[in-house]
Amino acid sequence: MSNVTDPAEVRSGGRVIALVPAAGRGERLGEGIPKAFVTLRGVSMLRLAVDGLIESGVVDRVVVIVPADRIDSVRSELPDGVDVVAGGAERTDSVRAGLAAAEDADLLLVHDAARALTPPPLIARVVAELRAGRDAVVPALPVSDTIKTVDLLGAVTGTPERSELRAVQTPQGFTADLLRRAYAAADSLATDDAGLVERIGGRVRTIVGDPLAFKITTPLDLALARALANDEPIEQ
Ligand code: C5P
Repeated sequence: MSNVTDPAEVRSGGRVIALVPAAGRGERLGEGIPKAFVTLRGVSMLRLAVDGLIESGVVDRVVVIVPADRIDSVRSELPDGVDVVAGGAERTDSVRAGLAAAEDADLLLVHDAARALTPPPLIARVVAELRAGRDAVVPALPVSDTIKTVDLLGAVTGTPERSELRAVQTPQGFTADLLRRAYAAADSLATDDAGLVERIGGRVRTIVGDPLAFKITTPLDLALARALANDEPIEQ
């Protein structure tokens, strides 16, 4: 457990641990391997995501969560000091495994490996908001498409007002206490961590996200990411 107990001290000097869920199958990417292990310029997305967290200068420890059969190979690919644990069937299970390995956190970031090109300054902005007193912070961007809700047969059931919609990214940042309470109460799956915090009544604050923090999910995303990675030299 952390020695920091004063709430003000948690904000100013508290320990920041980043959890990186990377245990998904990534079938939508169509590369035949889990997407966190697909490479951009010879470097895995997971490694790029971890490097970005370290480069941000605001993260004290990184815990990555990977498929059980990849633990050894991931340990050898990542910098010393990065912890590697086995994930679960759903993203929520994987984050839960990461939480169990991050007992000494005061502030927690959850950052998808699939957002491999996230600029380090965005990560620093999330942590700065936590240190300034927010309990839950998510990067978010306006959506350019009109979004419809549909039923199981594809019939449109509604058109939410676009100006009120945001696409949220990672890293999502939380006080450790709040995120742990949200996961303790979680009785179903969630596609993002802030959603679980909202369910227990937590106030989630958005900050302006970054287009480069897009989630690399489809072959088109991967083509874009590879084009971007080739434009900017990435160390191997
Ligand atoms: O599937 P989705 O794109 O929402 O996955 C987001 C992130 O969560 C990815 O980095 C993926 O590897 C991770 N994940 C996980 N464990 C799972 C499913 C997804 O760590 N069981």
